[in-house]
Amino acid sequence: MKKYTNIKDISNLQETIREAILLKMDPFALQDLGKNKTLVMLFFNASLRTRLSTEKAAKNLGMNVMVLNVNDAWNLEFEDGTIMNANASEHIKEAAQVISQYADVIAVRAFPSLTDKQKDESEFVLQSFIKYATVPIVNMESATAHPLQALTDAITITELSEKPKPKVVLSWAPHPKALPQAVANSFVEIMQNMDVDLTITHPKGYELSKAITKNTSINHNQEEALKNADFVYVKNWSSYKDYGKVLNQDQNWMMTKAKLGSAKFMHCLPVRRNVVVEDAVLDSENSVVIKQANNRTFAAQIVLQQILENHLK
Ligand code: CP
Repeated sequence: MKKYTNIKDISNLQETIREAILLKMDPFALQDLGKNKTLVMLFFNASLRTRLSTEKAAKNLGMNVMVLNVNDAWNLEFEDGTIMNANASEHIKEAAQVISQYADVIAVRAFPSLTDKQKDESEFVLQSFIKYATVPIVNMESATAHPLQALTDAITITELSEKPKPKVVLSWAPHPKALPQAVANSFVEIMQNMDVDLTITHPKGYELSKAITKNTSINHNQEEALKNADFVYVKNWSSYKDYGKVLNQDQNWMMTKAKLGSAKFMHCLPVRRNVVVEDAVLDSENSVVIKQANNRTFAAQIVLQQILENHLK
């Protein structure tokens, strides 16, 4: 693996999942692999899980870790040829090359604006780092993708599935704020590469990009979609068509114990209790969100391991 900015960077998903699960037996086995290597993590946006699990993963591999909240540094300019007489003090061309001298791997979190679809879809922050940095880049959630979360979710379903081909439902849920489509996009993409029966359910107007969903089954009737589900992944996202808009806050879409039945409940977290999902689900045995969050470490660790093994030798 030369970078991990999209799930397409995984060359063998089943093998990667298997290796990630094996890491749990001895997370410190490859302490020498990362010795004298440095991971620099750059956060343009807040994080709890991604920040801590990725740092833990890197340290499990013996790496040094440096974290920069980019908003505490100079404002960066991403446009080419701009006259920089406004807020931005430093151009990404210099910044990415300078950071590359301190890092062996750079990980970046940069959310979308949700106001400019074209600009968000260009992934200009992530793509600028890919273009100007001289070391591998890891995506810690970009405008349109959250591949570390998706790999985590694939690991979690593989570990917990009691069937060779489980039914997995991605169910939209209400939320007061406009949230990105990134988690849903990457979850759909990785599930399309797994041996699962995948259905997406959401109110009309919340269709994800057709480039993501392709031929995946979409059912606007949540009750029908949830029938016989083994895993229910609940997530809010704002409208893709009416870009970044909150079109619906219908609480009837909140996940309840009655709707969930015997299925396992998944969510990437953070989650708003009794808005997205009721307490009775999160506090039940059916909820696997804490195990899921634990798998963030092993998803990040297998990605960093593959980068260190294949690219940094
Ligand atoms: N799921 C996830 O990415 O969590 P954080 O935003 O806390 O990193």
